[in-house]
Amino acid sequence: MPFTIPIKRPSDDSKSLVLIAAVDDAMGIGREGTIPWDLPEDRRFFRDQTIGHPTLMGKKTYQSIGGPLPDRPCAVWTHSAPERIPDTPCIFSDDLDDLLEWCGQFQREIYVIGGQSVYRALLDRADGIILSRIPGNYGCDKFFPPIHAYRCALRHPMEGFMIEYWRPECRT
Ligand SMILES: NC(=O)c1ccc[n+]([C@@H]2O[C@H](COP(=O)([O-])OP(=O)(O)OC[C@H]3O[C@@H](n4cnc5c(N)ncnc54)[C@H](OP(=O)(O)O)[C@@H]3O)[C@@H](O)[C@H]2O)c1
Repeated sequence: MPFTIPIKRPSDDSKSLVLIAAVDDAMGIGREGTIPWDLPEDRRFFRDQTIGHPTLMGKKTYQSIGGPLPDRPCAVWTHSAPERIPDTPCIFSDDLDDLLEWCGQFQREIYVIGGQSVYRALLDRADGIILSRIPGNYGCDKFFPPIHAYRCALRHPMEGFMIEYWRPECRT
């Protein structure tokens, strides 16, 4: 059975906004436009956790993964839509509230999958944060923002890294 985090919602009928990221020891998330490590088990975990759910990302992350992720509606934060719109349900907008509203028509958990600019913009609105803690320092030039007012509610060891689930302090 694949391991996934059971996401808690603020209430039964509400949406849940979850930031999901892999970070190194310095909270680095990326270098020169890509992720400077390759951990298949973390990629598998990310897939299992997010499959079927809407994903919200910045345009650079969208470009770095080469388009929408399979089987996940895709909302992209950008000032400009691409020339070719993919077949997967997709929206491009410079308005985060519009993107979130669009995501809300799908499953209840909305996953914010990076990069730095989107994590920064939505950190204060997140109902949860999932971090894969990758050991080492990879000299990253993009970082996950400092986490205040959240508490680690769950830790789960994986082969070669640790998964953490953080919840807002007032709701743990
Ligand atoms: N480790 C992880 O879990 C993880 C996950 C995802 C990404 N990453 C890494 O993170 C890095 C990318 O992060 P990033 O911060 O450079 O890029 P990003 O957040 O993916 O995308 C930045 C883009 O978002 C759009 N944007 C930003 N602010 C905006 C605003 N106020 N209004 C409208 N659009 C706005 C702009 O698109 P336009 O220029 O088109 O207007 C901007 O260029 C890469 O290295 C990637 O590999 C790591």
